[in-house]
Amino acid sequence: MPTILITGANRGIGRELVSAYSADGWRVIATARDPAAAGLDCECLEMDVADPNGAAALKDSLADTAIDVLWNNAGVYLDKGMSLAGMDYDLWAESMLVNALAPIRVASALIENVAASERKVMAFTSSMMASLSRRPAGSYAYRSSKAALNMAVTCLTHDVQDKGIATVLLHPGWVRTDMGGENADIDVTTSAMGMKRVVDAMSPEKSGGFFNYDGTEIPW
Ligand SMILES: NC(=O)c1ccc[n+]([C@@H]2O[C@H](COP(=O)([O-])OP(=O)(O)OC[C@H]3O[C@@H](n4cnc5c(N)ncnc54)[C@H](OP(=O)(O)O)[C@@H]3O)[C@@H](O)[C@H]2O)c1
Repeated sequence: MPTILITGANRGIGRELVSAYSADGWRVIATARDPAAAGLDCECLEMDVADPNGAAALKDSLADTAIDVLWNNAGVYLDKGMSLAGMDYDLWAESMLVNALAPIRVASALIENVAASERKVMAFTSSMMASLSRRPAGSYAYRSSKAALNMAVTCLTHDVQDKGIATVLLHPGWVRTDMGGENADIDVTTSAMGMKRVVDAMSPEKSGGFFNYDGTEIPW
């Protein structure tokens, strides 16, 4: 039975990924800031990804457990609607910490766990809003933190390739969650099932790609 670890799994897209992989017969290890409140029907470990010691503590809990898919899903969009003049730079720093630094810290801590598995995939939930070629405007903190994630994962791709690990960056679509809002384009099931198909089809040759939930490539 393959094993997946999903961060930020208590609500939104992460929670739907838990359902999708559980339904497919996988062992699912979720992480959440408050596992008791999450009420998930799977193993759930406590982790605030912003905690600098969180990744090391997670590694201690997992010991040598093989992780077929490590899915860094937890994320924040703290500067929605914030103007440049009204920029809260503390929120920008927090965005960088949660969206860019934390996923790499978790991935780095769990390299051997993923390398010990059969599938060997590290998935990272990014966003189309990170795409430079779309000539973006506004949302400085969110866009730059996800763009930083994209660059960091591109670097990571080289560092893990000799272990046979494939990385993938994913845009989930504009999804009806707390973050996406009720006017978003698609529901969580469409997003999670679509991204799951992309991850299921991952291979070393595709490592380092940036894909939409529907499998199309996203321009950097
Ligand atoms: N929804 C969209 O349209 C959309 C579009 C593009 C990309 N994304 C990305 O997709 C991912 C999931 O988004 P979503 O729509 O499901 O958002 P969401 O409904 O707001 O859920 C965010 C999840 O991340 C967790 N999280 C945030 N900060 C955390 C921290 N410091 N430590 C641990 N967990 C933390 C939250 O946990 P708490 O409940 O503890 O806060 C929650 O489980 C994010 O990376 C987001 O940037 C979403």
